[in-house]
Amino acid sequence: MSMTDRLVLEQVTKKVSGRVILQDISFAVPQGSILAVLGPSGAGKSTLLSLLNRLEEPTAGTIYLDGKDIRTLDVFVLRRRVGMVFQRPTLFPGTVADNIAYGPSLRGEKPPLPVAEYLREVGLPAEFAARDTQSLSGGEEQRVALARALANDPEVLLLDEPTAALDKTAAHQVEELVTYSCRQRGLTAVWVTHDLKQAQRVSDRVVLIIGGRKIEEGPTPDFFYSPQTKAGRAFLAGHLTKVDTEVR
Ligand SMILES: Nc1ncnc2c1ncn2[C@@H]1O[C@H](COP(=O)(O)OP(=O)(O)O)[C@@H](O)[C@H]1O
Ligand SMILES: [Mg+2]
Repeated sequence: MSMTDRLVLEQVTKKVSGRVILQDISFAVPQGSILAVLGPSGAGKSTLLSLLNRLEEPTAGTIYLDGKDIRTLDVFVLRRRVGMVFQRPTLFPGTVADNIAYGPSLRGEKPPLPVAEYLREVGLPAEFAARDTQSLSGGEEQRVALARALANDPEVLLLDEPTAALDKTAAHQVEELVTYSCRQRGLTAVWVTHDLKQAQRVSDRVVLIIGGRKIEEGPTPDFFYSPQTKAGRAFLAGHLTKVDTEVR
């Protein structure tokens, strides 16, 4: 484990009702870097993310945040430090401002910056603060979901296919906003995507998961230009969009 690794996974296994979903996954995410997690549908990518902020617990193995086993941290502190943006934004009924202030309000606090600053960061006008979340487009919802995550002042951002449900234009905008915020804030990100071009654009490193196992790991250009495994090459060639998820 290096001092500069924000997140470290050591031989993480997840079983659900005896079925192996993830097997012996180890990797590290250097501080301030963006890791793309790639893999076919059903590979275990979302499950992996849910372990990182303890929405689920591993069956075996250890996850470290800044060198500390995350099981030793208060789960609410962990979730403040490790924010999450899902494929489908999960906004609460109410106004945009309510949603952005939600995380800090759980602690009886206000977001570190005015709501308008978060709106600006995600490319929305200040007037959006008073808008009802029901009235937003998909792209706007996802921007607010990002703003809500940022208002917790996280160190790590978990992104589960944040642009997959959006049309092409909105997807591109949200991709750029997320990348910009991560870089600007020095966030460490774990970004699940099945968009290979997106992974190439946004990430520093890649982990490829197939059938619950880590198949490849390395710097993004290395993975895309010279994948080390037959499965990695098949995945890049588009031959592995959906596989049997049983770990053999
Ligand atoms: N709570 C659960 N109970 C049973 N099966 C699950 C559960 N969570 C995930 N799975 C299964 O684990 C596999 C991996 O799922 P998931 O992590 O959602 O994959 P991905 O995000 O890569 O598409 C799938 O076969 C899924 O059906
Ligand atoms: Mg998923």
